[in-house]
Amino acid sequence: MILAANWKAYVEDTKKAKALAATVKRLALKSPHTFIIAPSSAHLALFAKAGKKNFQFAAQDMSVAAGGAATGETTAVQLKNLGVAYAIIGHSERRAMGETDAEVSGKVVQALAQKITPILCIGERVRDADATYLQGLRLQLSSVLSAVAPNERGSLVIAYEPVWAIGRSAREALSPGDLAEMVLYIRKVLAEHLPARAAAKVPVLYGGSVEPGNIRDLAEGGRVDGFLIGHASVDSATFSTLVKQVP
Ligand code: 13P
Repeated sequence: MILAANWKAYVEDTKKAKALAATVKRLALKSPHTFIIAPSSAHLALFAKAGKKNFQFAAQDMSVAAGGAATGETTAVQLKNLGVAYAIIGHSERRAMGETDAEVSGKVVQALAQKITPILCIGERVRDADATYLQGLRLQLSSVLSAVAPNERGSLVIAYEPVWAIGRSAREALSPGDLAEMVLYIRKVLAEHLPARAAAKVPVLYGGSVEPGNIRDLAEGGRVDGFLIGHASVDSATFSTLVKQVP
């Protein structure tokens, strides 16, 4: 399993960030799972070089620009130089600030060019009775896959994060059965752009109110390869408890 901790802007204190990273490193040492921490970009430089084996770092976002006059941006090359192995791209909180599918695709292409693994976030804002949200999801995924060279499409990690399930509680998260259905759907779309064997190997994660109380059921019944965890990843005790629940 991949257990990716998206710290968002929850962790502002540098001491806290260091202590939390040390906890995750200890957990990784005695675990068969892969741990990925996504701190804020201000903290990324503190840690990213420490990433090794099943303990790695991700950017929470990155620039679509390949350097040059792009004030405030952090490029794929800069992240690579820091030792960053992954980049969360297309998170719904970035899309809500205006990020388009075209920008998301451009960022994924930039990341892949530096051998940074994109964790591509997709997910519907709301669900409708006619299931037209599935079309939106297909579009989010297809637009990126079409922009990526066929031989690189298998190098992505997909994070399915329904926006309505983010930042709530375990009770309001997606059910394991619904998650399994969504993962099948995502794999179907992947198989339209990739050879079947390569499509089956792309890790699909779930994010949206993953907590100690629901991670076991989601892992056992959700057909996922891991999780992208927000609020439950920024407290050492909670995250340690959550990790113990992962089968
Ligand atoms: P929560 O776990 O806080 O719902 O956040 C999920 C998420 O957005 C991870 O990227």
